[in-house]
Amino acid sequence: MTRRVYLDHNASTPVHPEVVTEMTPYFADVYGNPSSVHGFGRDAREGVDVARERIATFLRVPPDQIVFTSGGTESDNFGVKGLALARGRGHVITSRIEHHAVLRTVQALEAQGFTATYLPVDAYGAVDPDDVRKAIRPDTVAISVMHANSEVGTLQPITEIGRIAREHGVPVHVDAVQTFGKVPIDVDAMGIDLLSFSAHKIYGPKGVAGLYIRKGTKMVAIQHGGEHERRRRAGTENVPGIVGFGKAVEVRGREMHDEARRVSALRDRLWEGIAARVPDVRLNGHPTNRLPGTASLCYRHVESESIVLGLDLKGIAVSAGSACTSGNVEPSYVLVAMGLPLDWAMGAVRSSLGRSTTAEDVDYVVDSVAPLVQKLRQALPVGAA
Ligand SMILES: Cc1ncc(COP(=O)(O)O)c(C=O)c1O
Repeated sequence: MTRRVYLDHNASTPVHPEVVTEMTPYFADVYGNPSSVHGFGRDAREGVDVARERIATFLRVPPDQIVFTSGGTESDNFGVKGLALARGRGHVITSRIEHHAVLRTVQALEAQGFTATYLPVDAYGAVDPDDVRKAIRPDTVAISVMHANSEVGTLQPITEIGRIAREHGVPVHVDAVQTFGKVPIDVDAMGIDLLSFSAHKIYGPKGVAGLYIRKGTKMVAIQHGGEHERRRRAGTENVPGIVGFGKAVEVRGREMHDEARRVSALRDRLWEGIAARVPDVRLNGHPTNRLPGTASLCYRHVESESIVLGLDLKGIAVSAGSACTSGNVEPSYVLVAMGLPLDWAMGAVRSSLGRSTTAEDVDYVVDSVAPLVQKLRQALPVGAA
């Protein structure tokens, strides 16, 4: 049987067994509507409340400042639109390497008459806080910069950006979908007003996420209906999902630090193993200030899709650029923004490691990649002179 190695944890993760156990009663036993006043409803409400408490404890924020949503995408839409629409018109600042959930939301706001600045990034994929300072105008209504990009994993200087935003009285939204539960986040020290985070990147279920909203932040709801979530997000809560999310976060509290150390070492082993055996390969993003488990590599003169498909035949799951855009033959907009030449950018492959990744997995990937890249380069030297 072919060995199977999953190195696509930035796309999604397996649900932690403790999370499955915690969620299970909430499908068929505790099925009341948490808005109902009877006992069935109260039991469901208690599950939601416990989850909110767990997440609030982890983030060190009051529970009533957390709103549950249907995913990181909704949290990003809510965060950015909620801030902008509360002010009616104005200017929004974001970066060129945001997830589409932010980029396309900002574009949608532009179509409604807002203006926007898309900040450049350096060769490591980092925003320069000074560029944020220069971009702020009297009519700037929101700044949205992600904590780390899913593809390259470079951590952004959020604390500096937060400080500059505070000086100018501009609220800051941070997409922390890739960092929440993987690296420490302190919303007060980092000057974050809104924070998006999602369950399925941290061994929780898909289709549930959160938005932290700092008390006093002027926001409007973008989903209208009932009185749920203190009238900030209408719709019956995804009770099993929320319960699972709370448990996943509690488990992260126990496992995050040790796992970060372990997967960082494995990621280094992967990069060093490949670099020793494959010529013309580079590691994208900042070498140290980065997500623990993410390794984005570029293989010059090879097409990333060919590597992804070749590794798939070996039972290995990696992605070409971000999962949301794979299948797209354009080079990744993130790597283009970082200034990578086309002959490198077309050969980008992301491996993202997680709690089940072992040293044997990594060695198997290295042993599979080296001959594959050699074969592809001999067969089809993409862009070779
Ligand atoms: C940085 C970032 N933001 C937002 C999202 C969207 O999250 P979700 O899949 O929960 O909608 C993702 C998912 O890949 C992401 O990586």
